[in-house]
Amino acid sequence: MISSNLVVIKLGGSVVTFKEKPLTPNYGGIDKILEVLSEIKKNFKVIIVHGGGSFGHYWSVKYDMHTKPYPYSDLGVSVVHESMIKLNQIIINKLIESNLKPYSIQPSTFVFNGVADPVRIHNILDMTIGNDLIPVTFGDVIHTSENNFSILSGDTIMSMLCKELHPKFSIFTTNVDGLYNDIGKGEIVREIRVDRTDISNIFLEDDIKKEHFVSSFDVTGGMKRKITESTQIAKSGTPAYLINGFHPERILDIIHDREYIGTCIRMGSGS
Ligand code: IPE
Repeated sequence: MISSNLVVIKLGGSVVTFKEKPLTPNYGGIDKILEVLSEIKKNFKVIIVHGGGSFGHYWSVKYDMHTKPYPYSDLGVSVVHESMIKLNQIIINKLIESNLKPYSIQPSTFVFNGVADPVRIHNILDMTIGNDLIPVTFGDVIHTSENNFSILSGDTIMSMLCKELHPKFSIFTTNVDGLYNDIGKGEIVREIRVDRTDISNIFLEDDIKKEHFVSSFDVTGGMKRKITESTQIAKSGTPAYLINGFHPERILDIIHDREYIGTCIRMGSGS
C-alpha cells in the first residue's frame, strides 16, 4: 500500500519567503533545500508542495480573504493567484538552475469543487515514474462553486496527495524545529501516535512567540493546520514529519533512518 520510493515534501512559506517582508523570496532558504534534493532523488521519487508565505498570504489579508468559500473580491482572487504563480516561477527557476527538472502543476488542475480528483493525483505520480521530473504544486486560491473561491493551503494539498498516493514519508518544513511539549525547557516532541496522544497538550512555538503569531500574514492557520493535516496523513498510513527547513539535512536523516531533530506524527500505539 505504501509507495516505498515516494517522498512528498512541503516547502513552507516561512522557508521560501521572508514571512514578515511582503513579496520577498528567501533565496537562501530555497537554495538550502535544493542542496539536499538531488541527494533525496538518488533513492526516491519526490513531489513538492510549496506555501504562500509573504506572497499569497500577504495579498489574501489585503483583500480580506480567508479559508472558507466566500464571494471574494474578484481583483483579490486575481492578485493572490498571480502572486502564487510568481513565487512558483521563482522556485521552479531555481530548481531548473540546479538541474532538478521540476514540472509546475497548478492545484486547479487536480482539485474540483474543493475535492481532489484521484485520477489526476495519480497522473502527478505517473509523471515521476520513468522520468526524472519533480512535480511542484502550491497553495493557491481556487474556484469552488458558482461565484465562490477558496484559499487552498499547501498543507491541505499535502494531505490530498498523501491520502491518495501513500508515500513512504511526508515532510513539512517550517522555520521551527517541530512541536514543543514544554516550551520552558525547549524540548521537541519527538513522536506523536495519532490514536492515543491527546494533541491538545502540545504547545506550539508559534503560540509562545505571540508577536510572530499575531503579526504574520498567515490566513491558513499556521502550525495548527499542519497538525490537523499531519494527523490525517498519519491516519492514512504515512508518517508526517515536522522539521526545520533551514536544516534540510534533517530530511536526509529521516529518509536514511538516522537520528533527526523534529516531530513525527504517525499511526499506532507504540512506546
Ligand atoms: C497559502 O498556502 C496559499 C495562499 C495564501 C494563496 P500555505 O498555507 O500552504 O502557505 P504557508 O506555507 O503557510 O505560507
